[in-house]
Amino acid sequence: MAKYKIAWMPGDGVGNDVMDAARIVLDKAKFDAEYVPADIGWEFWKTEANPLPDRTLDILKNTDCALFGAITSLPKEECESALIPELQGKGHVYASPIVRLRQEFNLRTNLRPCKGYEGNPLNYKDGIDLVVFRENTEDLYVGIEFHPLPDEVRDVVRKHHKKMARFDKTPGDEIAVSLRVNTKTGCTNIITDAFEYAKKHGYKSVTVVEKPNVVRETSGLMVRTAREVAKKYPDIELWETNIDAMCMWLIKNPLDYGVLVTSNMFGDIVSDLCAQLVGGLGFAASGNIGDNYAVFEPTHGSAPKYAGQYKVNPMAMLLSVKLMFDWLGETELGSALDGAMADVIKEGKILTYDMGGTNTSLEVAEAVAGRM
Ligand code: IPM
Ligand code: MG
Repeated sequence: MAKYKIAWMPGDGVGNDVMDAARIVLDKAKFDAEYVPADIGWEFWKTEANPLPDRTLDILKNTDCALFGAITSLPKEECESALIPELQGKGHVYASPIVRLRQEFNLRTNLRPCKGYEGNPLNYKDGIDLVVFRENTEDLYVGIEFHPLPDEVRDVVRKHHKKMARFDKTPGDEIAVSLRVNTKTGCTNIITDAFEYAKKHGYKSVTVVEKPNVVRETSGLMVRTAREVAKKYPDIELWETNIDAMCMWLIKNPLDYGVLVTSNMFGDIVSDLCAQLVGGLGFAASGNIGDNYAVFEPTHGSAPKYAGQYKVNPMAMLLSVKLMFDWLGETELGSALDGAMADVIKEGKILTYDMGGTNTSLEVAEAVAGRM
């Protein structure tokens, strides 16, 4: 029997291309695993009105962790019309399968390292080494939203909040409300993870990125919690920055920062910015990590126009595999893969189109595998 059981979820679009690339590296590493294919994505939305079928959840429950390629999500109206005719008009509502996975499996930490590899022509500056800790199950992503706004909800809010009176004259169908829900536990967990990581990897600061001057309660809870948690780590400085200013500082002085910690929505945004500083979405890897399970995925979308062309940069996927190795405790494999990627990038001979080359996703994976 193989040492590990890994759920294998290519998903949509280029997900399959980059997962094929991952497989080249996994096989070369002689990673002792059984890969269990699992259905996820747009195909299953169209035909079953469920992009994350129950059979997939069962597979995940019986594996050590999952590798995931990419997903296509579209706005509400386009989702309905994509359904096969017999499923249309039945009130099916599309929910992002990755967001659902994060919540159902309580994958509360989204780890997004953004390190500039030496010689990457896409680096914004040399020496960037950022790691984003994004809270992964709460915040604006809880999916508690109202449109139209029911009168009962409006009345309750109005009773507790005078500010709601401003909207008394606006009809319910002209108001949309999305709740931002953050908990003390959620804040404590993500901030602790960030500090632990900083301690383990020798970063001198942790920056909490929020907006407590305006969003006083939710962002305030994050910052207040960060101050509490920071007391347990006297050797690491806590820096507090507002999300808007942070975006400017990251462009101006990216080398000043190391570990960033933030809530779900801000983390979604700022992690794309950080990824762009070190080569764009082709380098954006992530681990969705819980206490007992984890899903590793590149955060580039499914890029449907490139699907099946083996054109996109597989580095983000390979970096996600590295995160998986590390999470499983296979740190030697993790370092070997990291070193091999660094070598291939430094050499600068085998490059996908985004890096100015003409090589395929698979050729890049072969080159990396060859260096392991
Ligand atoms: C990400 C993506 C997802 C998110 C989408 C695909 C739901 O942008 O992982 O950053 O918003 O979290
Ligand atoms: Mg995103």
